[in-house]
Amino acid sequence: METKQRVFSGIQPSGNLHVGNYVGALKNWVAMQDDYENYFCIVDLHAITVPQDPKVLRQKIREVAAIYLASGLDPEKCVIFRQSKVSGHAELCWLLNSVARFGELSRMTQFKDKTSKGGAESASAGLFDYPVLQAADVLLYNAHLVPVGEDQRQHLELMRTLARRFNHLYGETFVVPEALIPPTGARVMSLDAPEEKMSKSSPRPGSYVAILDDPDSIRKKIRRAKTDSGTEIEASPDKPAITNLLDLYSAMSGETVSGIEAHYEGRGYGDLKKELAEVVIEGLAPVRERALELLDDPAELDRLLDSGARRAREAAQPALESARTRLGLD
Ligand code: AMP
Ligand code: TRP
Repeated sequence: METKQRVFSGIQPSGNLHVGNYVGALKNWVAMQDDYENYFCIVDLHAITVPQDPKVLRQKIREVAAIYLASGLDPEKCVIFRQSKVSGHAELCWLLNSVARFGELSRMTQFKDKTSKGGAESASAGLFDYPVLQAADVLLYNAHLVPVGEDQRQHLELMRTLARRFNHLYGETFVVPEALIPPTGARVMSLDAPEEKMSKSSPRPGSYVAILDDPDSIRKKIRRAKTDSGTEIEASPDKPAITNLLDLYSAMSGETVSGIEAHYEGRGYGDLKKELAEVVIEGLAPVRERALELLDDPAELDRLLDSGARRAREAAQPALESARTRLGLD
């Protein structure tokens, strides 16, 4: 039997999962799950690199698990688990820390963005080391493909660099993974500030559509979304707000942006917003309903995560052992 290549990806259990996470990541994971051996992780060790309320974190972990399943990930085809329950992630991170360089971590734009307000001085060492843990996540399973949104491109490049450097210094050990970034929906921008990425950690709920938002809130948020000057419905660099709405429409409906532009020729922003809201509601409704059902039975979600962790631990063993041996630790 031909063995399937491995896919690995993850989402942090912080804030509210939003439509950007859905079209940039989740939806694509679901679409490709039949063709690969899949590892989908709830990256709780990444989440704690910025302060989290432990009670909220516990709840968010289950919420992400419920949303993974409700989106259509099949536990028969995907290993769904929590990062902190597989100690190999932290261990391999430490091993890779000795090949990662201070300079390359200093150049990571996500670190620079996240510390732009408070300053790097008070950032946690974990936040600085975040991309090395992310590299460990994927290399631990010798995964070939990593389906993510556009914002992860630089982290994926670093991951490849670390894999190659380790292989070069100590002998072939890791698969050098590749990023898989979707053609539409890879970078959904904030509804109220289209120059900023839609973000889970935004303090402004009007900036994102959460996967668990009810239909009325979705209508309201999209109705209030910022628009550009002019009236033309077209994607162009001087129309960032409308371009974002068109891209989201395209990612949720599967229609091309040019097809959508043609459909709205001679019509106004109001029409676009009204219909986009319905497209988003229709796409998210089954996910929301199923996720809420699953959240009614937290013990079942915990059982599923425990069984995922057992499978992940087993799958992680060979890469961890060979890295230890290569380094002279075994
Ligand atoms: P995070 O929200 O940082 O845990 O990201 C989880 C996944 O969602 C990653 O694959 C991200 O690249 C993707 N993602 C996050 N925000 C967006 C966004 N605004 N648009 C598209 N994809 C996103
Ligand atoms: N850093 C990713 C994000 O914020 C989440 C993540 C952690 C991840 N480990 C990963 C994504 C491994 C892909 C593969 O979006």
